[in-house]
Amino acid sequence: MLTPNLTVNEQGHLCVSGVDCTELAKAYQTPLYVMDEAVIRTSCQGYHAVLQQEYDSRGMICYASKAFSCKEIYRIIHSEGLGADVVSGGELYTALQAGLPAEKIVFHGNSKTFDELTFAVSENVGRIVADHITELAMLNEIAAAQNKTVSVMLRIKPGIDAHTHDFIQTGKIDSKFGFALETGEAMAAVQACGTFSNLKLVGLHCHIGSQIFETEPFAEAARVMLRFMDTIRTECGMILPELNLGGGPGIKYVESDDPRSFSEIMREILKAVRSACDTYQYPQPFLLFEPGRSIVGASGLTLYRVAAVKQIPNVRTYVLVDGGMCDNPRYALYQSEYEVLCANRADQPKDTTVTLGGKCCESGDLIGEGMSLQTVGPGDYIAVLATGAYNYSMSSNYNRNPRPSVIMVKDGTAREIIRRETYADLVKNDL
Ligand code: LLP
Repeated sequence: MLTPNLTVNEQGHLCVSGVDCTELAKAYQTPLYVMDEAVIRTSCQGYHAVLQQEYDSRGMICYASKAFSCKEIYRIIHSEGLGADVVSGGELYTALQAGLPAEKIVFHGNSKTFDELTFAVSENVGRIVADHITELAMLNEIAAAQNKTVSVMLRIKPGIDAHTHDFIQTGKIDSKFGFALETGEAMAAVQACGTFSNLKLVGLHCHIGSQIFETEPFAEAARVMLRFMDTIRTECGMILPELNLGGGPGIKYVESDDPRSFSEIMREILKAVRSACDTYQYPQPFLLFEPGRSIVGASGLTLYRVAAVKQIPNVRTYVLVDGGMCDNPRYALYQSEYEVLCANRADQPKDTTVTLGGKCCESGDLIGEGMSLQTVGPGDYIAVLATGAYNYSMSSNYNRNPRPSVIMVKDGTAREIIRRETYADLVKNDL
C-alpha cells in the first residue's frame, strides 16, 4: 500500500486507520472524500520537530490552505500550533471563522482586490505578502485609512528552475508571481516600501513551485534569498528580520515516485540558511514555511462507485465512475498520476489495465489512464489514493454536480467535516 495507514481487512475491504471504506461508501454515499486525521497531525508534528531540532523553533509553519480549506482543517492545524497561508478573502474568512488567530495568518495572492486587502487589514492579519507595486500603493492607502501600520513581505522570484509541471512552477522569471531579482524590480520594490508610511517591510518571500522531489532547488532558493537580503543591507542599510521560503515538498502518488521526505528537505534548507548567514555574517532570520500538499495530501482518498465498464476491443477499457473532473481535475490539468484499487476487493490481484472515466460531459474527464486495477463491475467501489491535497479545494459544480462530502477518520471512527451539497445548494444563488 502507498501509505501505512491503509490496510485490508478479512473481508478484503480497504481500511483507512482501521475504518472500512466500503462501509463508509455505503453510509455516506459516493463520491466521497475520506481523510485520516492522524496522518495530518503527524505531518504537522514532523515539521515542528525539524524546526525545533535544526533552528531552535525560530520560525512558523503556515499550512498552505489552498491545498484543502474548510473550518475543521484550520481547527486541526491550529491545535498543532501551525499558522496558515491564505490566498483569498474566502480562505481568510474560513480561517477566522474557525478561530485561527489573525496574527498567525499570511495573506498571499498576485491579484488581491481592494476589498480583500481592506478585510485583511481590518482583521489585523499578521503578514501580507505583496506581489506588485500597485498592491503596495493600494495597501498603504487602506492602512492609512484605518490608521494602521501593516507588516509586509515581498514575494520574490528567485529564478530557480524546479523540476515539476510547468503550471505549478512559480520561481522562474517568466512567472506571474512576484518581483524579479534579475531585472532590478525586486530592489525597486524594497526601496518603494520606504516611501509608504503605513507599511513595514518585515521580510521576503519566495515559493519555487509544488510537488518537488529534490532538496537542492529549495536550498538554492534559500541561498539566493539570503544573498539578496545581504545586498539590501548593503544598499539600503536595512536588516530584514524574516524570511518566508514557501511550500512545495512533493508526495508519493504512485509507487514509482521517490520524493525526498519533507524532513530531509527541511533539514537541507535549514542547513543552507545557517551557512548563508555565516557567509554573509547576517543575523539568522525568523523563518516561515508554507507546506500544503505534504501536510494533507497523503491523508486523503476518494471513493467512487462503478457505474459501468466499457470494453472497446483493441482500444481500451473504460471504468466509468460517479465522479470525475468535478471532484478531481488534476489529471485533466496536469496528467497527474494516481494509484487506484477496488475498495471492496482490495485483497485481489490487479489484473486489468483501465482508463478511469468520470461522469462529466467531456472526453477529457478522466481520473487516469493505463491504471492497474482489479477486475471490477457495476456497483464495485473504487478508491483513488493520495487525494487529500488540491482535490476538494479544486472541485467544481461542473455539469451541476453537487460537491461530495468529506469524512474525517480518527481513532477508528468517522465524522463528516463537510456535508454533501444538495440540489437545493446548487440553485441557492440563482435568481
Ligand atoms: N505557498 C505558496 C505561495 C504557494 O503558491 C503554494 C502553492 C504553497 C505555498 C503550497 O505548496 P505545496 O506545499 O502544497 O506544494 N493545484 C496544484 C498545486 C498548485 C500549488 C500552488 N501554490 C496541484 O494540484 O498540484
